[in-house]
Amino acid sequence: MLKEWVNYQRPKEKKPPRPSFWHFFQLGKSLPDRLIGMARHYGPIVRFPTPMRVFLISDPSVVHTILVTRQQDFTKDLYPYRQLGKILGHGLLTNVDESWRERRLNLQQGFKLNLLPTIARITEECTKILLNRWRKSEQTGRYLYLEDEMLQLMMDITCRSLFSETVSVPQLKKRIRWISSAHRLLMTGRIPWVPTPGNIRFWYAVSRIRREAERFLQKRRQLAQQPEDFLTVLLSLKDKAGNSLDNKEIVDEIITFWATGHETTGAALAWFWFSLNQNDSAKQRLREECEAVFLNHSSLTPEILNEMPYLKASLEEGLRLYPVVWNFFRKTLQDENIIGYRIPKGSTLVLCPLSIQRDERYWPEAEQFKPERFLSGDKPKEHYAYFPFGGGPHVCIGKAFANVQAQIIIAQVMREFDIEFLRKKKTFPYRGLITLRPAQVMRIRVRKVTHEI
Ligand code: HEM
Repeated sequence: MLKEWVNYQRPKEKKPPRPSFWHFFQLGKSLPDRLIGMARHYGPIVRFPTPMRVFLISDPSVVHTILVTRQQDFTKDLYPYRQLGKILGHGLLTNVDESWRERRLNLQQGFKLNLLPTIARITEECTKILLNRWRKSEQTGRYLYLEDEMLQLMMDITCRSLFSETVSVPQLKKRIRWISSAHRLLMTGRIPWVPTPGNIRFWYAVSRIRREAERFLQKRRQLAQQPEDFLTVLLSLKDKAGNSLDNKEIVDEIITFWATGHETTGAALAWFWFSLNQNDSAKQRLREECEAVFLNHSSLTPEILNEMPYLKASLEEGLRLYPVVWNFFRKTLQDENIIGYRIPKGSTLVLCPLSIQRDERYWPEAEQFKPERFLSGDKPKEHYAYFPFGGGPHVCIGKAFANVQAQIIIAQVMREFDIEFLRKKKTFPYRGLITLRPAQVMRIRVRKVTHEI
C-alpha cells in the first residue's frame, strides 16, 4: 500500500517500449501499416527499432501538447524537413528559422480571404474540362487512371489559381512527373553528391521544377497589370524592414505551394472516391444532396457549400480514413517526460494522423466509411483524434483552399458521373511516400448518372 502511494506521488519515468526489428516488419506489409500496428501493440509512445531516437506518438492529448500547448518546446528543424527542402527550398513548409513566423502571418492575411471565391470559380472551370474528357471516355468505354486524373486536375487548378498559368495537358503531365519523381527519389536512400542514376534523375527533376518556377516569376515581372492571384500576393509581401522578397525567396514559395497545392488534394480525392464506393447509401445520400443544390444554383461558391453538410461530412470522413499527410515530425528541444515516458532531447517525434484516426477507441468501426459520424455530434471528445491538416501555428495554410476545391470537384462529378473501380476489393493497398498514395494504379470507368426528374 505504502509502495503504491509513493509511486503515485512520484511517477517514475519509463522507457517507451520498442519492437524488435523483426517484429516491426511483421506488423504490416507497408510502412503506414507498420505504424498502425506499432500503436496497437505497444501503446501511446513507441520507439522505432532504429539506432536513432525516433518515437511514434499515438495519443491525441500528447499530439495536442506537442502541436499546441507546448509547441515552443518542439521544433521542425530536423532531417525529413531538411530533405524536403532539397526540392522546396526555404519555403513556408520547410522554413524552420525565425523568418517563418513573419512569412506565415503575411501569407495568411494576404490570400486567405481574397482568393477563395476566385479559387472556387477556377476549380469549377477546370472540373468542367475534366468532365468533358470523361464524357468522351464514357462513350468509348475506355478506362481511366483515377489518381492521374485527380493529380492532373489539381495541377491545372493550382497553376491557374496560384499563378494564373494555363497549360496544356502534356505540360501538366510533365510537371506532375517532375514533382512526383523528385518526391519518390527523395524517399530512396541516396548517397549525397555521388552521381548515381537515382541522384542524376533527382537533380534533373529538381532543376526542371526550379527553372519552371523561375519562368513563372520572370513572366509575371514583365506584366503591366497584375492578376489577382497568389503570385501577386507573394510579390507584394514586405518584411519588417519594408524589403520585398528576393527572387530566390519567391521561387521557393512558388515551388512549395505548387507542390503542396496539387499533390495533397489530388491524392485525397483519389482516396475519397475509393472510400465512397465502399458505402452505397452514403453515395446515394451525397448524390441527392448535390442534385438538390444544383436545382437552385448553376454554380457553386464557398457560401453555397455551406448548404451541403453531407458533402462536408463525406470529405471529412474521407480524410479521416486516408489522411494524405499521413505523418509529420517534431524534434524535442529538451529532455521530456511525456505521460510518464522518458524522451531525450533531440529525439524525433512522429505524429501519425493515420494511426490515430483509425483507432477503434476513438472511432468505432474505424475501417468503415461513415460520413454520418461527422454530423451526429458523435465525434470523439479528444480534439486531436482527428488532425488531417495538423494543428497549432503550423496548421495547414491551404486547408480552406483544399476544402473548397475538393468539395466543388466532388459535387460536380457526383452530379454527372458514377465512378466504378475495376478492382472490386474492399481495401486498396497504399504506400507511404511523403503523402499516402495508392500502391497500385486505380483503374476506373465512368458512367453517366440518370436523373429521375
Ligand atoms: C487535403 C489536402 C491537404 C492536407 C491533408 C494537408 C495537410 C497538411 C498538414 C498535416 C500540414 C502540417 C505539417 C506540419 O505541421 O509539419 C500542412 C502544412 C502545410 N500545408 Fe497542407 N495540406 C493539404 C493541402 C494543402 C494545400 C492545397 C496547400 C497550398 C495551397 C498546402 C500548403 C501547406 C503549407 C505551405 C504548409 C506548411 C505550413 C507551415 O508550416 O506554416 N496544403 N498541410
